[in-house]
Amino acid sequence: MDALVIEGGRALRGSVRIGAAKNAVLPLMAAALLADGESHLRSVPNLADVRTLSRLLEHLDLRVRPDNGGLLLAADAVGGREAPYELVKTMRASVLVLGPLVARFGSARVSLPGGCAIGARPINLHLKGLEAMGAEVVLEHGYVDVRAPRLRGTRIVLDIPTVTGTENLMMAASLADGTTVIENAAREPEVQDLAACLVAMGARIRGAGSAVLEIDGVESLAPYDYTPIPDRIEAGTLMAAAALCDGDVTLHGARLDHLDAFVVKLREAGAEVVDLGEQRVRVTSGERRTGVDVRTSPHPGFPTDMQAQFMALMAKGTGNSVITEKVFENRFMHVSELNRMGADITVEGSSAVVRGVPQLSGARVMATDLRASAALVLAGLAAEGTTVISRVYHLDRGYEALEVKLAALGARVERIRE
Ligand code: EPZ
Repeated sequence: MDALVIEGGRALRGSVRIGAAKNAVLPLMAAALLADGESHLRSVPNLADVRTLSRLLEHLDLRVRPDNGGLLLAADAVGGREAPYELVKTMRASVLVLGPLVARFGSARVSLPGGCAIGARPINLHLKGLEAMGAEVVLEHGYVDVRAPRLRGTRIVLDIPTVTGTENLMMAASLADGTTVIENAAREPEVQDLAACLVAMGARIRGAGSAVLEIDGVESLAPYDYTPIPDRIEAGTLMAAAALCDGDVTLHGARLDHLDAFVVKLREAGAEVVDLGEQRVRVTSGERRTGVDVRTSPHPGFPTDMQAQFMALMAKGTGNSVITEKVFENRFMHVSELNRMGADITVEGSSAVVRGVPQLSGARVMATDLRASAALVLAGLAAEGTTVISRVYHLDRGYEALEVKLAALGARVERIRE
């Protein structure tokens, strides 16, 4: 297993390019199942999750080939209908093949993803929506069997604005008979990106980015040639690193309009954030302040995927901040590791009280999930001394060569094989 070794205390200077959004690329890859032909997804980041989904799509006889930094996805001979446990358990976004398979082929058999480090993360809302559209759903032996000769448009009200749930149901509704209305739909930029791609394939979708989606089903969809949006969470992570490490960093390929709630809080924490236009953003650490309170919520609220990184930012300083996680029930796995680095954080239910400390100290720590590992990298960059982060396979799921990008900004970080 790989580990990262970080010598903390160095300022971050220079410019860095942001890759395409992991959480847009994954549903877009699944959307290729909807069309009889070869789709082209451009500028796909080299991430573990992308490789896992590629393996699953190949398992379904969808041919995936690299093409000039992107992927060619040929779905003209898709015969498979099953997403097996060994693939789904490593990446829950595998559930995104469910909607497309049922919509185009009338059946799918997907392993239930099971829980993960940050929570139970059921898919009951995905299944309830498909049932409302006329599908027969049977749960047995850890798998869910979904069948529907033809899905029917209907009105679905989601209890929770689930991101992949909205994406699954939007893809299913695109080929259903009649109109589907999804109320309390997720509004994330990645959901909007998928909607834009589906429309380019011939789908008829209104309201993307709002809480009410209207989808008029069509007979068939054409393959796409599509470029995903940039990764707002990678961008936010690097912006937090610049703010924490006396930085002056310019991000290329960053969409500030996808990060409004996060940027409000980053500026409250003293950072200067300037939109230079043409998807370039300059961040300087400015007069650092801590004691900034954050409460995560679905988009356009503060993103849960930035909670751990913001906590690392608040850990070093003078004020106290309350960070409340309202999306997942167990997304504080980074707290105990940050405390091993000298942070002073206590968890009270769904809130963590972060008492800023003047200095963090390097230590051996262990990554537990994707964004927790990003928080440990940030803390290591700011800490005095050496930090060794083990199990960085968690980090590799969502960041392409993060240590290379940070080293190019002046950080002392290297990957070793433990
Ligand atoms: C997506 O996960 C993202 N993953 C997550 O990013 C992100 O943290 C999350 O949305 C919230 O923004 C991808 O897009 C691939 P949800 P998803 O369904 O869709 C509950 C990262 O770090 N829920 O919006 O699985 C659920 O338990 C990853 O890149 C149900 O109860 O999240 C959670 O508490 C981590 N029943 C809440 O809703 C359901 O049927 C939000 O989950 C579905 C969800």
